[in-house]
Amino acid sequence: MCGIVGYVGNKSAAGILLDALEKLEYRGYDSAGIALTDKDGISVYKTRGRIKKLREIMENRDQSKIDGFTVGIGHTRWATHGEPSDSNSHPHLSKSGKVAVVHNGIIENYLELRAFLIDHGHTFCTETDSEVVSELIDYYYNGDPVSAVRRAEVQLKGSYAIGILFSDYPWQIMALRKDGPLIVGIGDGENFIASDIPAILKHTRDIFRLGERELAILTKEGVTVMDKYGERIEHEVEHIQWDVDAAEKGGYPHFMIKEIMEQPDVITKTITPRVEDGRIMLGLRHITDQDLSMIENIKIVACGSAYHVGVVAKYFMKKTLRIPIEAELASEFRYDDPIIDEHTLVIIISQSGETLDTLYGLREARIRGARTISIVNVVASSIANESEDVLYTWAGPEIAVATTKAYSTQLILMHMLNWHIAGVKGLMSQEEIAAAINELERIPEQLRGILESVENVQYLSSLYFNSQSVFFIGRNIDYALSLEASLKLKEISYIHSEAYAAGELKHGSISLVEDGTLVIAICTYRPLLDKMISNIKEVKARGAKVIAVINHDDSETERVADHVIRIPECGVNAVPSLTIVPLQLLAYYMASHKGCDIDKPRNLAKSVTVE
Ligand code: AGP
Repeated sequence: MCGIVGYVGNKSAAGILLDALEKLEYRGYDSAGIALTDKDGISVYKTRGRIKKLREIMENRDQSKIDGFTVGIGHTRWATHGEPSDSNSHPHLSKSGKVAVVHNGIIENYLELRAFLIDHGHTFCTETDSEVVSELIDYYYNGDPVSAVRRAEVQLKGSYAIGILFSDYPWQIMALRKDGPLIVGIGDGENFIASDIPAILKHTRDIFRLGERELAILTKEGVTVMDKYGERIEHEVEHIQWDVDAAEKGGYPHFMIKEIMEQPDVITKTITPRVEDGRIMLGLRHITDQDLSMIENIKIVACGSAYHVGVVAKYFMKKTLRIPIEAELASEFRYDDPIIDEHTLVIIISQSGETLDTLYGLREARIRGARTISIVNVVASSIANESEDVLYTWAGPEIAVATTKAYSTQLILMHMLNWHIAGVKGLMSQEEIAAAINELERIPEQLRGILESVENVQYLSSLYFNSQSVFFIGRNIDYALSLEASLKLKEISYIHSEAYAAGELKHGSISLVEDGTLVIAICTYRPLLDKMISNIKEVKARGAKVIAVINHDDSETERVADHVIRIPECGVNAVPSLTIVPLQLLAYYMASHKGCDIDKPRNLAKSVTVE
């Protein structure tokens, strides 16, 4: 959840690094810094605050000297060990001045290593785990940077993506990773490292992802990569098709609203390559249909919104497959001694593919013999690489911290995976699958209808954006949707919100409902609509204001609610995908009214790569 970059070439490094870091601020932005090197040594510039502040600091320095540096590394931070401060920000320069490091991840045994280094005469000036890395490499350095890095690495426990400068080697940068993402960019007479592609896209489209525990040495002439055994290896270079705009706002005020509006298109992009004449073609490479037909239970493991997709999917998969289906929080799953065997399918969902809780959950599942399929938005990310099979969501870069289009495309893939398994198990005929697919294929058009008429949601957000507390209630699959709707609201508007199974409210929490409390009742699940109407009456009797999200033909609920958000006529399988979008918009507009920093909410980062 930090962003790291590096540049080596013929151009002035400082500006390139700062621009690159700005593209990574979504990964963390409480402090930032860069280290530049030349024959005279390493210079470090770092500060608490955003890149903008770092840029100001550098502009007040001797520009002729700064412009002369053509090699450097940079970092934008999301604090884990050590509060946001000037000294705790990266890069960390060893006391000898010979080694500078930028680090994304967590060194779990940093206290032990710190004690060892102190015993050997090293001193520390920060509270961070990352400073241990620069001092440890320095400790082992005897003129050979590769040996120093590898000897230090074997002492490290935890996760790391690291950029390294050696003052004795001012013509190169080094990069090393375990569990944290790291891209290498191949330019013409220049080369790059970055935590993510948007950081370097304007300089090169040719990239590869550093593999687990691989060490890269970059000079302006080229890139050498060694595996953990020290053997040189070659990576196939991927040519990125994204436009720079695709990673920019495209004229919208925030990435989040841009990404909400992209949902029809990315849902189409996610479905189309996997459907041929009404048949689902998932393109699984290792898990066969025969394997899937033998699956006797399914666990869906994820965090946050990805977990909420799992809860929605649990409801419809259970109905279709009639086998035990569980949605589990990855941070719990790993330590819960899960019951898994060779007939267990574990589905891992992750937008970033780097969420460490989820990655560790995947590893736990594999150790216990589960078959694993991941649903991921970032190609060749750690979770994608370590799963037995992966289904990509093709949502394109999702920059806003609050996920929307990734959530929606994950939901689509869960439907398709469900029907594919049902097909191989003989639970759905080809005709039934084709009909279900047709319902999905109509979603983009129906969504466009919703996105073209946001006035009602904008009006409701203007009425209620000053709410102190909001309840989202629903039953069955609507309860699962309320989890996501509630998270969307609280993470970008900072309004306290809770999602509740509507039938559960009366068992205690209804005591919180008072005059003016906003309750958003999701009422699309028809079999329990009468119960929902009773729940609406319950909360209204205690003074609540109720917004009901209802089906196109529901007039009954409209009579009891204060306001309604109506979803268009659609197939039953499309309902969750159409219901969540107005609720994403409601959260967005309420946060807009409050003037919140919607794309970069406080305390959050786009990818949480710590436990
Ligand atoms: C979503 O709006 C949140 N920012 C967060 O809950 C996120 O879904 C969660 O951290 C999981 O991230 P992932 O999908 O990249 O694994």
